[in-house]
Amino acid sequence: MPIALRPFGATGVTVPAVGMGTWQTFDVRGGAAERHARSIVDAAMDAGATFFDSSPMYGEAERVLGLALEGRRDQALVATKIWTASAREGRIQADRALAFFGRRIDLYQVHNLVAWREQLDMLDELKAEGHVGLIGATHYRAAAFGELRRVIETGRVDAIQIPYNPLERDVERDILPLAADRGLGVVVMRPFAEGALTRRSPPASALEPLAPFGVRTWAQALIKWILSDPRCHVAIPATSRPERMTENAEAGQPPWFDREARELVARLARGQV
Ligand SMILES: NC(=O)c1ccc[n+]([C@@H]2O[C@H](COP(=O)([O-])OP(=O)(O)OC[C@H]3O[C@@H](n4cnc5c(N)ncnc54)[C@H](OP(=O)(O)O)[C@@H]3O)[C@@H](O)[C@H]2O)c1
Repeated sequence: MPIALRPFGATGVTVPAVGMGTWQTFDVRGGAAERHARSIVDAAMDAGATFFDSSPMYGEAERVLGLALEGRRDQALVATKIWTASAREGRIQADRALAFFGRRIDLYQVHNLVAWREQLDMLDELKAEGHVGLIGATHYRAAAFGELRRVIETGRVDAIQIPYNPLERDVERDILPLAADRGLGVVVMRPFAEGALTRRSPPASALEPLAPFGVRTWAQALIKWILSDPRCHVAIPATSRPERMTENAEAGQPPWFDREARELVARLARGQV
């Protein structure tokens, strides 16, 4: 079954349920490493996981992702970020990113809400010029969710990117309800809590009740746990292994978990077998 395509909130854009992050995994240099990065993107594209997230904070990642998309940029959705307190440096980051990605960023986000008012001004201009599709804001820490709420309430963003996994559920309180109410697109970072959740997998027997949902592996259970919340639209696991990209993408297909299956995954994530 192909990966599910979902409305990205009320933005009018459709996204694949699974995409890919590039933090650490795409911060590489040199021919062999860049070819390997391309092979991860090959696996993502083959599976229909065509949404790619990056940032100038991730070292070489934007450049390497741009190279990996050469010849097929129009088949991908690129989400990247501005990450600086300086308006001037923001312009420089945007010029660089637009050069990497064929003069178009599908979702341009303010990373960690840094200087968000100023950076949103610039992103509004780039959107008016047709270089940017949608505008977003991201933060990875629950302590910043009050400010994220204020950003959402300005009505200036189309989408947010937040952490959500069975061990990091703070967004359930205010952020996901508000995002759904406002029709925002929701990108989910850190689906494996930076790998903390995948380093140890429950025994295969514990995953058996999830087989009717098409889940073969623990990583797939975690991704499907996220995507079974209809307020979340695209999960962006990062991996340095093409075969894991294929595995992760398989979780982007219905049937979605019911409440019982979701609770089972949450218990397993807490180590309760
Ligand atoms: N805006 C922000 O503040 C912010 C912050 C953090 C992250 N992000 C975005 O969100 C993306 C994802 O978050 P993340 O990179 O922090 O962590 P993550 O996706 O939760 O976890 C990545 C880790 O999971 C492992 N992994 C991936 N697929 C696996 C599989 N099928 N089985 C077992 N292990 C697997 C990877 O190892 P291998 O490489 O060995 O597969 C890697 O160590 C980032 O890349 C970035 O684009 C944004």
